[in-house]
Amino acid sequence: MKIKEVANRLNTTPRTIRFYEEKGLIQPDKGENDYRSYSDDHLWRLQTILALREVGLSTQQIKNTLHNEEEVERYLNAQRSALYEEWLEIKDMIGTIDQMLNKKTGEELVKEDIFALADQLKNVKEKRKGWQDQWDFNSQAREYDESLKMNGYRFNVHEHYGEALAKAIEFVQPAEGETGVDIGIGTGNLGSQCIPHGAHVIGVDQSDEMLNVCKEKHPQIDVRHGHFLALPVMDDEADFITTSYALHHVTEEEKELALMEMNRILRSKGRVVIVDLMFADQHDRERVIGDFKEAGNREAIFAIEDEYYANRSNLEAWFKKIGYTVHTYVFNDILHMVYAEKH
Ligand SMILES: C[S@@+](CC[C@H](N)C(=O)[O-])C[C@H]1O[C@@H](n2cnc3c(N)ncnc32)[C@H](O)[C@@H]1O
Repeated sequence: MKIKEVANRLNTTPRTIRFYEEKGLIQPDKGENDYRSYSDDHLWRLQTILALREVGLSTQQIKNTLHNEEEVERYLNAQRSALYEEWLEIKDMIGTIDQMLNKKTGEELVKEDIFALADQLKNVKEKRKGWQDQWDFNSQAREYDESLKMNGYRFNVHEHYGEALAKAIEFVQPAEGETGVDIGIGTGNLGSQCIPHGAHVIGVDQSDEMLNVCKEKHPQIDVRHGHFLALPVMDDEADFITTSYALHHVTEEEKELALMEMNRILRSKGRVVIVDLMFADQHDRERVIGDFKEAGNREAIFAIEDEYYANRSNLEAWFKKIGYTVHTYVFNDILHMVYAEKH
């Protein structure tokens, strides 16, 4: 097939095809008079290149996927996550412009309010972009399930793990045909428990390796690269949200944005269940940490200081403020559940 025919078939231009040739993505056969000749395989390859380009992959990324087909899924997942992040940023910007235009006294826009709104927006953007995995979950993924069976020397964060996950399912009651989103799904131990109830499970995690292990264990789970502050899920798409042992990896300030993200994707009457390492409230935090200090339990103090345990009372207050009904459950001093229903 000649270049013009290929271009017509694929709804592109000969120039575009030659561009991908220059970049080394495709090498047509050269016939007499140096005319390019394209086989069905070339056509297929070009179609792949055009499709990946259409969703925003760079030519270098496309080149990598053509060398290793398994990479396609990883790049597409990463691209979806990046696009969601951009989409959320644009949504926030439009929302802020609307608010700015509403801040009028008479005919005048109020500058101070506009500056405050701009600062607010900047802060959200920085948080979304700034989150980083300080714990290297990719390197933990393959051993994660085994590590759950090991007790810490003097501090066991996984005490009541199985019971806590079962309680989360008991509260959230996944139902046939529902869509549930498990955030920080890890190897899938909580999200997978929704499948026997007939729910479609979207598993979100910032770690590719965790998602790989999750997919190997539970092929039915729709794994998506993403993070608490930019969930790769549409508005009102989730009937319920679950998350276990994950929220304590975002700071206190970021938690509020994470809860706003949950609220964004949750439909009306939806349910959220958070099982996590946290304290009941500030008073209890001081009591529990004080007890560990008194007992000389440095393992516990180090572990707590390395992460961002919430005060459960703050999570409860936030959900109540925006009209959710909240129930809580205590497994032990540092492991709690917050269950919230949207109105
Ligand atoms: C301790 S594991 C818990 C995994 C699983 N939910 C469970 O209960 O076994 C924490 C998981 O949360 C993920 N995670 C941590 N911070 C995250 C964030 N900001 N956004 C999305 N996932 C995050 C990690 O990559 C990891 O897979």
